[in-house]
Amino acid sequence: MRVVVTGSNGLVGRRLVSQLVERGHEVLGLARGARRVEGAFTYASVDLTDGPLLTETLGGFKAEAIINPAGMTDVDGCERDPVAAWNANVGVVATLARAARTAGAHLVHVSTDYVFDGEDGPYAVDAKPNPRGTYALTKHAGEQTVKALLPAAQWSIARTAVVSGWPSTGKNNFGYWLISTLARGQPVPLFSDQWVSTSHATNVAAMVAELAEKRLPGLWHTCGAEVMDRVTFGRRVCERFGFDPALIKPSRMADVKLASPRPAKSGLDVTKTAQTLDARPWTVARALDELFRERQEHP
Ligand SMILES: NC(=O)c1ccc[n+]([C@@H]2O[C@H](COP(=O)([O-])OP(=O)(O)OC[C@H]3O[C@@H](n4cnc5c(N)ncnc54)[C@H](OP(=O)(O)O)[C@@H]3O)[C@@H](O)[C@H]2O)c1
Repeated sequence: MRVVVTGSNGLVGRRLVSQLVERGHEVLGLARGARRVEGAFTYASVDLTDGPLLTETLGGFKAEAIINPAGMTDVDGCERDPVAAWNANVGVVATLARAARTAGAHLVHVSTDYVFDGEDGPYAVDAKPNPRGTYALTKHAGEQTVKALLPAAQWSIARTAVVSGWPSTGKNNFGYWLISTLARGQPVPLFSDQWVSTSHATNVAAMVAELAEKRLPGLWHTCGAEVMDRVTFGRRVCERFGFDPALIKPSRMADVKLASPRPAKSGLDVTKTAQTLDARPWTVARALDELFRERQEHP
């Protein structure tokens, strides 16, 4: 299959590219600036918000599937620059959806648990979104864009949450930040009042790739299998990596001034994914084993 992966330098994007190549697909990775990931795939440096350039690049490749993990993922940054957030999280999606429509390609768009308000998670795939804050609003608008521009059989929306992976891609991710801070013996403040479905990027990529390969339409929750508060997750990290659990300092989200609101009682129900895909959502234990292995491989 000929597959385009946007944001191929990113945390999920780079794993998508390598897994798809390993499975014999012909891959075009699109990202900004120089190629940052090696592998047997074609790379094009494209600012995805340049609609005409993106359309031309896609037209030349004749993709059968387009996977879009790219986006403006800095939640507080989106609050500060809503125009950039809209362009990256909605405008790009519109260009990709139009190109998929023209080519008859399947579009898998990666979204987030932030489309929900976090009042009463975990959320089923068909729960009603209620986004709060610019990142959440633009990611939800991205989902709506996909639904508006493509026939129902031609899109998948894959929501994920709190994705970790080692090493860092240059941006901090939750697991990387947590493990590297604890390894230096420094205290880590973690919210005790925020529940999330933590995920590992390798597992997210495997589920998302399968959606593209099988052209499975509709809404999917492609995240870890368990919902827990961040303090409990931090203590599980200490247990697995042998760090001092006293370094975990419980704090309350309610006491911190954040530029953008965060869902408190979040979490995504993965029943449909677990029952349908060969790539199952990982438990926290499985994800921590993989982080441990990755850190040994890239100390
Ligand atoms: N990470 C999480 O915890 C999390 C949680 C829930 C949902 N998600 C969703 O999952 C998806 C993947 O997340 P991730 O953590 O893999 O994100 P990431 O590491 O930030 O990767 C996103 C990639 O998109 C690229 N990109 C953004 N705007 C671009 C543009 N205009 N032109 C070209 N490339 C552009 C970025 O390029 P640069 O590297 O040059 O900036 C980056 O490499 C995102 O859609 C995100 O909303 C992530």
